[in-house]
Amino acid sequence: MAMVNIVWHPHAVTKDQRSIQKKQRPCILWFTGLSGSGKSTIAGAVEQKLYEIAHHTYLLDADIVRHGLNKDLGFSDEDRVENIRRIGEVSKLFVDAGMLVLTAFISPFRADRRMVRDLVEQHEFIEVHMATPLATCELRDPKGLYKKARADEIKNFTGIDSEYELPEAAEIIINAQELTIEQCANKIIQYLQANHIVFSQ
Ligand code: ADX
Repeated sequence: MAMVNIVWHPHAVTKDQRSIQKKQRPCILWFTGLSGSGKSTIAGAVEQKLYEIAHHTYLLDADIVRHGLNKDLGFSDEDRVENIRRIGEVSKLFVDAGMLVLTAFISPFRADRRMVRDLVEQHEFIEVHMATPLATCELRDPKGLYKKARADEIKNFTGIDSEYELPEAAEIIINAQELTIEQCANKIIQYLQANHIVFSQ
């Protein structure tokens, strides 16, 4: 009954005003993909490019958020659902603030990605599927976690003994193994330009 006696207060400064002041159309660039698929790396490269052309951004990254806001959550299905629910709500607040938000979470479940999509306006949610195959992620194994998962030292590891549900209609699909970091970031920037989210330079 947490909603009892909560009254929505309309504030004077609006989302439109905050966006116009920043000269941008806010949105969420939602990166999804396996651990080691390059979500953080590409999101970081895109943020750098957006910063260079004077956009106002914020990157929400799993390893950072799981040390603070979501440090009480693990990797059971329920905890992953709650992880994404909180990130979705935080992202929505950032969009309300007029920001371009980038998120880098495995977000393995289709229903959760859909739930975040439905939190904002239709054009404000852009799903970026980092489509790096499991075999490549496992070979890279930047944090040594696949090795531990195969050795049964980590339970419920995505791609090993916890499911990753492939996106069915992501706005952008990145085959990072065929492209450089620069090319991946450019592909995303081009999408944002074509959709009038960022200034054409
Ligand atoms: S999500 O599934 O809830 O979206 P999230 O993106 O926040 O996951 O966190 C994933 C990161 O946590 C991985 O990149 C990895 O470094 C670490 N991790 C630790 N345990 C697991 C696990 N069991 N499954 C997946 N990632 C894990």
